[in-house]
Amino acid sequence: MTSAIAVMTIGLLASPTHAQELPAAKDTIFARKILMGAIDMNMDEIETMLAPEGKLELADAQEHAETISTMLMAFPHMFPPATNQWKQGADRDPATDTFASPEVWTNFADFARDGRFKDRMECQPCQTPRRF
Ligand code: HEM
Repeated sequence: MTSAIAVMTIGLLASPTHAQELPAAKDTIFARKILMGAIDMNMDEIETMLAPEGKLELADAQEHAETISTMLMAFPHMFPPATNQWKQGADRDPATDTFASPEVWTNFADFARDGRFKDRMECQPCQTPRRF
């Protein structure tokens, strides 16, 4: 499932016919949302194992963590400026519209490289129902 999503994501990003063309903003937004959805599924697997009634399968948990780590490396590349579409109070469709804060772009170096995000799994730029 995860690899199918990764292939779809790469397919969406690879769709322009000329190297200098970018995919439409809505396609990039969709790609990063399904990528983050897949990160969420991997995180859920780990959380289930760590729940009081869960059973920790160390090799499985490590595989999920490595998948998350790999996906997070691709993630910052999916934020070209045209996909900064934040408008305070705007009506958004959670299935297709972006919830990314404009701070992603004003602090892009922090967003893309700052270890704080990765180490603490904390992400103020997430303005989604589930924040990390
Ligand atoms: C295990 C860690 C994480 C989980 C489980 C997670 C989960 C999610 C979920 C469920 C969404 C909503 C996707 C959708 O709209 O369908 C989301 C969006 C988002 N996440 Fe995360 N996240 C994680 C880590 C991170 C990190 C480390 C960053 C920042 C570096 C980040 C930045 C974002 C942003 C900017 C969005 C909004 C994307 C958009 O709407 O365009 N997330 N995340």
